[in-house]
Formats: sequence, C-alpha cells, structure tokens
Amino acid sequence: MSENLPISDALSHRWSDLLDRLDDIATTYPDALLASSMGVEDSLLIHAVAQRARPLGVFMLDTGRLHAETLAMVDVVRQRYGIEVRVMHPDPAAVQAHVTAHGEFAFYESVALRKECCGIRKVEPLRRALAGHAAWITGQRREQSVTRTELPESQWDDTFGLQKFNPLADWSSAEVWGVVRALSVPYHPLHDRGYPSIGCEPCTRAVRPGEDPRAGRWWWEQRDSRECGLHAANLIDRPRVRPRAADAVSSDS
Ligand code: ADX
Ligand code: SF4
Repeated sequence: MSENLPISDALSHRWSDLLDRLDDIATTYPDALLASSMGVEDSLLIHAVAQRARPLGVFMLDTGRLHAETLAMVDVVRQRYGIEVRVMHPDPAAVQAHVTAHGEFAFYESVALRKECCGIRKVEPLRRALAGHAAWITGQRREQSVTRTELPESQWDDTFGLQKFNPLADWSSAEVWGVVRALSVPYHPLHDRGYPSIGCEPCTRAVRPGEDPRAGRWWWEQRDSRECGLHAANLIDRPRVRPRAADAVSSDS
C-alpha cells in the first residue's frame, strides 16, 4: 500500500484491493482510459490511478452544459496530482443543428430528444475519446440505480468495441465517502450542496433527504430510462461474457 490510512481495516482493504485491481487492469491494458465526470467515485479513482508511477489517462466529456464547478475540477486534478485531464468537446456543428431544430432545452420535451442531445454532447465525443483504446474504466456502482443492479466489474462493451471496467461496482456510497474523507481526496463541491450524482447543469438537481441518489438526474423521466448512452448496456441486457483470455483480471464471474 502506498499510504498510511487513518481508517478501518475493512476500508483499508477495500482501498488496497482497488489499487491492486487498477494495477491488474493497467498491466493487461496499458492504454486503458479512466472516464471522469468529476463525481466523487471518479475522484476516488483518480486518486487511485495517481498512486501509480505512470498514471492511466483520464478524460472528461465537456458537454457544453456542465456546471462551472465541474469544469473547475480539471484544475483541481492538475494541481493536486499533476494529471492532465483530456477534455472532449461535442461537434459544434451537430450541437448547433440540434439547437436550431429543437431549441436549447429540448431534453425536457421527450426522451427521444433528450437522448439525441446526450448522443451529440456525450456519446459521440466518448466514441472519439475511446477510439484506438483497448479498455476504459468508469466509476459506476450497482447501488446507484435500478439500471445498474446487475453491473459487472468487467464487461465487453459492445457499443464502443472495447473492454469496460467498473472497479467500484460493488462499493457502497458509505465506503466511497469513507475512503475519500480518510485520504483527503479533493471532491466536487456540489456534493456538499445536495447533489449525490452530477451530470449536466439543466438535467441535474439537488435531492431532498431520503430521496434516491439519482432522483436529481433527468428527474422528469421514468427511472428505468435514465441512462444517457455512455452506459447503454445497462438498459439492454445483462453484460456479455468476456471475450478474451486476457480479461482474467476481471472478478465479475
Ligand atoms: S451518467 O451516464 O448517468 O451520466 P454517471 O453520472 O452516473 O453517468 O457516471 C457514471 C460514470 O460514467 C462516471 O463514473 C464516469 O466514469 C462516466 N461519466 C459520466 N459522465 C461523464 C463525463 N461527463 N465525462 C467522462 N465520464 C463520464
Ligand atoms: Fe443534453 Fe441533458 Fe444529456 Fe447533458 S444530460 S447531454 S444537457 S440531455
């Protein structure tokens, strides 16, 4: 382990298992990329990859509709870890065409228009970010949503054609926050203002005490449609069987 932890043995083991797991992923897939929305799970993963002599690459999809606090986290990560987050932007022409045809707030009108906006602002830039890479890593957790209860730690991502790792899949929110606080991991300021889950500004609201952690995401839609295309498999079916022997780094079997 790379740090002395002022935390319980249980959390300390969770943390060291996570570091081992990221080591395994990086050994098998040296070009694996960490996708960061700058939510707390991703802050924990960034802290973990920063422990490595050669941190994995990190990218963020700047949809053009993010909170200023989210964009500011790019500097926080640079200053704290010396990690340069690659910021991906949507195709300006596609954004303009969508806004001209449907307006600035079309996502409130229908699931179809919301998905079109996510497609332009998130999914297409994600496709570009992942092109040529063999694996990516996300901060998704099973607890987060009815669409994620079956989330594996490793899955073949059919949508983008590469391996996908969700190393926090079986972490609880309390575990994430326990390690983040113990290690003084810098985190998104909106978490302290009632936002357990943070996406684009017009599509995210704070939640009330006792509300579901994702109640503030696309709150006007049914719970089972609330995925934006980054994690399309969560809406389709159970994850695919791993296709390659090298994916033995997985522990999802
Ligand atoms: S979302 O699909 O509903 O927006 P969520 O906010 O729960 O996803 O985040 C789950 C994971 O998706 C994050 O831990 C991160 O790996 C990835 N992700 C979500 N939004 C972004 C973003 N804007 N940029 C990069 N990765 C993201
Ligand atoms: Fe558009 Fe909202 Fe999706 Fe962001 S979350 S890309 S603003 S529909």
